[in-house]
Amino acid sequence: MKQTVLWRFLLAASLTALLAIATSAVAQFGSHEDEVKVDVSSYPADVQNGYKVFANKCSECHSLTSSLKQSRSPEGWTEEVHRMQAMASSHINNNEADLITKFLVYDEAHRKAVARETASAAAGSSPEEAGKQAFESYGCSSCHSVAGAGNTSAPLDGIGNKRAAEELKKLIASPPSGSTMPAMDVPAKDLNNLVAYLLTLK
Ligand code: HEC
Ligand code: HEC
Repeated sequence: MKQTVLWRFLLAASLTALLAIATSAVAQFGSHEDEVKVDVSSYPADVQNGYKVFANKCSECHSLTSSLKQSRSPEGWTEEVHRMQAMASSHINNNEADLITKFLVYDEAHRKAVARETASAAAGSSPEEAGKQAFESYGCSSCHSVAGAGNTSAPLDGIGNKRAAEELKKLIASPPSGSTMPAMDVPAKDLNNLVAYLLTLK
């Protein structure tokens, strides 16, 4: 009897230790990124509700920044939310997952789309410059770095020597399944600009 109690204690203690390690590892993830502010006051009521659930549930393990910066197609967001929901200790039920996805898809088509258009209009007329701007406004740099700026776990320096234009286009427009590169909906103009920019990285 006593032994059972001891084992339970040891099990609980090691689980707590594991959880602490996992939490500190995750806390570092994205911690140096700038926070993104979202004004949802003009969004439909159900989308505002989805934002509340998102802000509450999706901030448990990491900041909201990568979700608010990065781009996904509607299918891409559905997939991402399911992936997060499946993570151990994510307490997100199916109804909440649907609400969160609804917010992310709406925010992508409104706030993010407007921010991208504004950024692209402000960029000079050269495709390379507009592509550099798009690289930021699509949140590519939250996973990739160029010359040490951005997320250095997946540098794209020298990609212009490594891949041809068509190959890059295909990779961004429809990443192979099983790739960590997410599914995004990049319109043709932005896609061409992004590729023009990537080809300058020699
Ligand atoms: C149980 C902890 C946990 C919860 C809750 C959680 N995430 Fe995550 N998330 C992670 C971890 C760990 C990673 C990094 C590893 C990976 O991508 O598989 C991650 C990665 C991500 C990424 C990819 C970021 C990048 O730069 O690679 C996005 C986007 C994301 N989460 C969005 C969400 C959203 C949206 C929610 C709410 C539906 C959510 N997360 C809830 C743990 C969590
Ligand atoms: C959630 C993180 C994430 C985001 C956001 C992301 N990527 Fe990626 N990307 C990856 C990862 C990880 C790889 C490495 C290959 C793999 O796992 O498929 C990759 C691969 C690539 C490659 C091929 C690299 C090579 O060496 O062949 C290119 C080019 C690329 N990404 C460009 C982009 C562009 C442009 C954007 C923005 C429009 C972007 N990525 C957004 C994670 C991301």
